[in-house]
Amino acid sequence: MGILEGKRILVAGVTMDSSIGFAVAREAQQQGATVVISNFGRALGITKRIAARLPEPAPVIELDVSDDDHLASLGDRLGEHIDGLDGLVHSIAYGNPETVLGGDFLGAPWSDVAQAVQVSGFSLASLTEAALPMLADRSSVVGMTFDATVAWPAYNWMGVAKASLESTARYLARDLGPRGVRVNLVAAGPLKTLAAKAIPGFEELEEMWGDRAPLGWDQTDTTPAARAVVGLLSDFFPATTGEIVHVDGGFHAMGA
Ligand SMILES: NC(=O)c1ccc[n+]([C@@H]2O[C@H](COP(=O)([O-])OP(=O)(O)OC[C@H]3O[C@@H](n4cnc5c(N)ncnc54)[C@H](O)[C@@H]3O)[C@@H](O)[C@H]2O)c1
Repeated sequence: MGILEGKRILVAGVTMDSSIGFAVAREAQQQGATVVISNFGRALGITKRIAARLPEPAPVIELDVSDDDHLASLGDRLGEHIDGLDGLVHSIAYGNPETVLGGDFLGAPWSDVAQAVQVSGFSLASLTEAALPMLADRSSVVGMTFDATVAWPAYNWMGVAKASLESTARYLARDLGPRGVRVNLVAAGPLKTLAAKAIPGFEELEEMWGDRAPLGWDQTDTTPAARAVVGLLSDFFPATTGEIVHVDGGFHAMGA
């Protein structure tokens, strides 16, 4: 018996098999879950091919978190595959790499900052709200962050967007707690995914981890982060909400 036996889970934000969401879907299936995955736009075709590489081929639905129609119809479209949700995984972020990531922090236009905050932060709330009619009591919502308590090289407005994500998770934890719904985040160290490759100056972060993480850090291994997500989706964290679990080789706890 796996720790997610009988659980129905949506993993939103899977493009490649390098995506953290892919590893979450794989690990969740291996723990007994029924998984639906989502992605949006032109990447949807890739996601459909990638979904076939999971231990169990997973249904793929279209979901652009900045599209109100997609959010409004989420329940109906999910309902074609599963009759409810015990877990919701938000593994989504976007910021224009030419303006909000790397380069000049002060030069970014508000429209691009607003897009980064909407897609990477606010969408945790809009996606959870859209999924709420499907979400069972005592279910679990998990998102992915990159520690937003400090300023990083290159991360710039995505760091601000992640700060909004982290705060959003705490407010959702407050409001959904009475229904028994837990809302937590996993703060992963730098991983070589599609999103990371779009960050100019990402190598600087990689070098910092290499020097400082006491457990060491493999930027190509998404499994530790995915397993933490699976743990938070499971019944093994029944009294944990509004939390950020670091999966970063211990980097966050070191002074230098
Ligand atoms: N890679 C890292 O170093 C790292 C570290 C910590 C946290 N994270 C976070 O993990 C999450 C997953 O990122 P990843 O590194 O696996 O990269 P990824 O590019 O594989 O995944 C990001 C996903 O977000 C989706 N997405 C973007 N805009 C969207 C929209 N409007 N609607 C719906 N989906 C949209 C993309 O299509 C993609 O599937 C992100 O929140 C990211 O910030 C990544």
